[in-house]
Amino acid sequence: TGAALSDLLLSRIRDVADYPKPGVMFKDITPLLADPEAFSALVDALAALCRERGADKVVGLEARGFILGAPAAARAGLGFVPVRKAGKLPGATFGQTYELEYGTAEIEVLTDAFVPGDKVIVIDDVLATGGTAEAALELVRRAGGEVVGLAVLLELGFLGGRDRLAKALGDAPLDAL
Ligand code: PRP
Repeated sequence: TGAALSDLLLSRIRDVADYPKPGVMFKDITPLLADPEAFSALVDALAALCRERGADKVVGLEARGFILGAPAAARAGLGFVPVRKAGKLPGATFGQTYELEYGTAEIEVLTDAFVPGDKVIVIDDVLATGGTAEAALELVRRAGGEVVGLAVLLELGFLGGRDRLAKALGDAPLDAL
């Protein structure tokens, strides 16, 4: 069941206090990745979402979104598109800046990553404030993709990311496993 899967996944996420800085409780997914049963169950669930949404391509967000998005894409029989931090992709790119707690960050996608009208599902590990996902959804649209869903392993609900993403998501569902 979904509840059993959620319990399994949550049991493999480790809280690390005061990382990367004092006052932050970091959600460490490395125990989950190291557990073949939990990792495989997660990839299966993400692949099922890719199929349910009718996606043509899977976007993963650097870096941990790559670890989850790429195997999910392969298992769903779909191609994978990396959205990277600025300066890492070769050739022409679209870039989108977003606010961090202090300063800004920028992510990019190749301008030819999608065939116009490609249905795209975006995958990441954690939804926190939603800034990264919001920028990624905008990038997908600018590159000609149609966003059909956002899927994350873990949603930190108290940070309000879901509300922030309401406009960027439109009718596309947000799933947190
Ligand atoms: C983390 C996480 C998400 C993002 C969520 O990535 O993997 O991508 O932050 O935060 P937000 O919802 O507040 O934008 P990070 O920037 O730490 O990159 P990494 O995966 O390369 O460590």
